Amino acid sequence: MKTLAVMTAGGDAPGMNSCLRAVVRTALNNNLKVIAIHHAYKGLVEGDFAEMGARDVGGIIQRGGTFLESGRFPEFVDARHQKEAIQQLKSAQAECLVVIGGEGSMNGALALHRLGFQVIGVPASIDNDIYGTQMAIGVDTALNTNMEAIDKLRDTASSHRRAFIIETMGRECGFLALISGIIGGAEMILIPEQEVTAEEVAAAITEAHDRGKTHAIVVVAEGSTLHAAALLQKLNEMKTGFEFRLTILGHIQRGGRPTAFDRLLATRFGVSAVELLLEGKSGLMVGLQGREIETIPLEDVCGKKRQANLEYYRLARMLAK
Ligand code: F6P
Repeated sequence: MKTLAVMTAGGDAPGMNSCLRAVVRTALNNNLKVIAIHHAYKGLVEGDFAEMGARDVGGIIQRGGTFLESGRFPEFVDARHQKEAIQQLKSAQAECLVVIGGEGSMNGALALHRLGFQVIGVPASIDNDIYGTQMAIGVDTALNTNMEAIDKLRDTASSHRRAFIIETMGRECGFLALISGIIGGAEMILIPEQEVTAEEVAAAITEAHDRGKTHAIVVVAEGSTLHAAALLQKLNEMKTGFEFRLTILGHIQRGGRPTAFDRLLATRFGVSAVELLLEGKSGLMVGLQGREIETIPLEDVCGKKRQANLEYYRLARMLAK
């Protein structure tokens, strides 16, 4: 019987558990044995494995986080660790692997593929910075979390005629901030892909104030050149008509029950990844293009950055008036 290994790596993303459930059950339905790797690449190198049955993934489709636990292990770039990982997989009789994770995790998957191990990647990261998929697992849930947070902050902002700077995650990609800003009705959005000065932000907020707005929302991506804390200080020194407060959404964005969209996406990705392995495929990542699940070579994914679409930026600026 063929043995499949599966792991979650990098920052956790809501829907990782839904994906694990789909991977495990699809594999078992195809008479594969399943081995779960705990603690991502570190666990892979150390052989932190456990066999999985159908019941082990019962009642997890709705749970945030990853029950296999995750982690960062930058040391995996070292070829010595990559060879140790393959050794561990071979000693557990695993012949193929599904890696559910972000951009860094796809690099690890590619390294294993290059060393001849059969591997398929599944994109999961709230940042939506992975090249080759329109949506990664966890993005929709994080957007919903941010939308709710912005709605709540606007309530208190307009009660006090204040303005809020809201910092989102996203590393060097502005997707999460940009879409959160649009769906939250932000007056201004700062993303790494589009530089703006504090003076430009102040001018936009002063205009909003003078047009009679009772609040203002400025969403700042964590990777923006203008950092949220520095911007807060500058805006409170300038005369915009509003007093500013800062809220950093932080790791709240990574938690929570996956939305319907994320559960379905994660399930489709998980089934697809196992079916690709059964067809003998390797070195691919599954991705969403339109409504379809497609594949893209990991060689094309790694090293490329997915950037926020500036057309959305134009739209956000226009609608903030
Ligand atoms: O990649 C997901 C992410 O949440 C980023 O948005 C953020 O920059 C980073 O992970 C935080 O990493 P850590 O888990 O190490 O705090």
